[in-house]
Amino acid sequence: MWSPESWRSKKALQQPVYTDLSALAKAERSLSQMPPLVFAEETRQLQRQLADVAEGKAFLLQGGDCAESFDEFSTSSIRDTFKVIMQMAIVLTYSGRMPVVKVGRMAGQFAKPRSADSENQNGIELPSFRGDIINGVEFSETARMPDPQRMLQAYHQSTATQNLLRAFAQGGMADLHRVHQWNLSFVKGHPQCDQYMQLAHEIQDALSFMKVLGIDSENTATLHTTNLFTSHEALLLNYEQALTRRDSLTNDWYNCSAHMLWIGERTRQLDGAHIEFMRGIHNPIGVKVGPSISTDELLRLTDALNPDNVAGRLTLITRMGADTLAEKLPALAKAIEAEGRKVVWSSDPMHGNTVKAGNGFKTRSFDRILKEIQQFFEVLKSEGAHPGGVHLEMTGQEVTECVGGTYKVSEDDLATCYKTQCDPRLNANQVLEMAFKISELLKLQS
Ligand code: PEP
Ligand code: CO
Repeated sequence: MWSPESWRSKKALQQPVYTDLSALAKAERSLSQMPPLVFAEETRQLQRQLADVAEGKAFLLQGGDCAESFDEFSTSSIRDTFKVIMQMAIVLTYSGRMPVVKVGRMAGQFAKPRSADSENQNGIELPSFRGDIINGVEFSETARMPDPQRMLQAYHQSTATQNLLRAFAQGGMADLHRVHQWNLSFVKGHPQCDQYMQLAHEIQDALSFMKVLGIDSENTATLHTTNLFTSHEALLLNYEQALTRRDSLTNDWYNCSAHMLWIGERTRQLDGAHIEFMRGIHNPIGVKVGPSISTDELLRLTDALNPDNVAGRLTLITRMGADTLAEKLPALAKAIEAEGRKVVWSSDPMHGNTVKAGNGFKTRSFDRILKEIQQFFEVLKSEGAHPGGVHLEMTGQEVTECVGGTYKVSEDDLATCYKTQCDPRLNANQVLEMAFKISELLKLQS
């Protein structure tokens, strides 16, 4: 029997050890009285759109910070990420000739799995930083102590973020003409201008043609407004449970902290607490699929998470590494196809390609990220499956965290503006360049 708390009888990896249990209970109680961040009907709408992705009729673009942060919370960073997601979407929609389903890693992406429970600096051992929703990044005993109050701060920051995203999506920031103007200025200033200019002009022509026919932002909502759904890793189960509510319309349970939730690579044990929790919520969900998974394990995961084989319910997010994907993915895709499992295949080309630069910075290279995406497209197409989407760690700001791209961020540049709390993100230029590269892959199949 599933209930929002049935996960508590299973083993939950990657959870903080809270010492003040009455403070924890109090925080959970407060959270469970807070309004939902999203409505069940919105998550059903996303699931219908993801069903189209599963059938190759739409493309999924999911992206945002590795970890949102309390300190870096600002209108401008939310706006800039919103902007680049819209900019990417217009390029991908035009090239792929299909709708792009936009999902932010935003408004709740706070908790991080870690490779070790504790961190040692100069002989002092403290709990690892697990994301601002749990403890503080500063290396001090007070900061690293898990504090349940932080769940409330994360909730409030998520509501403010969600509120702004809704305003941007509905209030004119998503206007196709405006988004296209941003892309034009990106292309004009770009060293590979010619290559991208043609596509930009084609989009311009399409917009002008529609205008002649009388289709413009004033009379056509789809040119002016959009939906940006939210998502995060459902890692901290106390938080996820407290925001799980029964939908009055269907009587089903929904996690109202985001439209879509996913299970990370480190917490997808078949008998574990995360699978238990996720199998019972009715949101569309994702699961990360790393290089160590076996075909049998993957099939059992899809059984556990999507027993009724509903298209759009389950997204398999591969994260294998540029050199490993072509070796591992074919057998997995073959099995899923052979068994008739309806899934969305999405590529996270970030987490299998993280390296340490000579100067100690954690980084990823543009070329390796692109290579993993290219291989993802190739493998799935040759297995008769749809390369359904991408899952990127990215920001609209001009950080220097990933190396490469036409603007040639080098290892020496990393120190200039390295702001991420966790993993390195593609910056605005790199991510737009990536959109143009992905658009070439989409064009080949449209
Ligand atoms: C993440 O998406 O930030 C993450 C931790 O990924 P994974 O679970 O694939 O390692
Ligand atoms: Co990450």
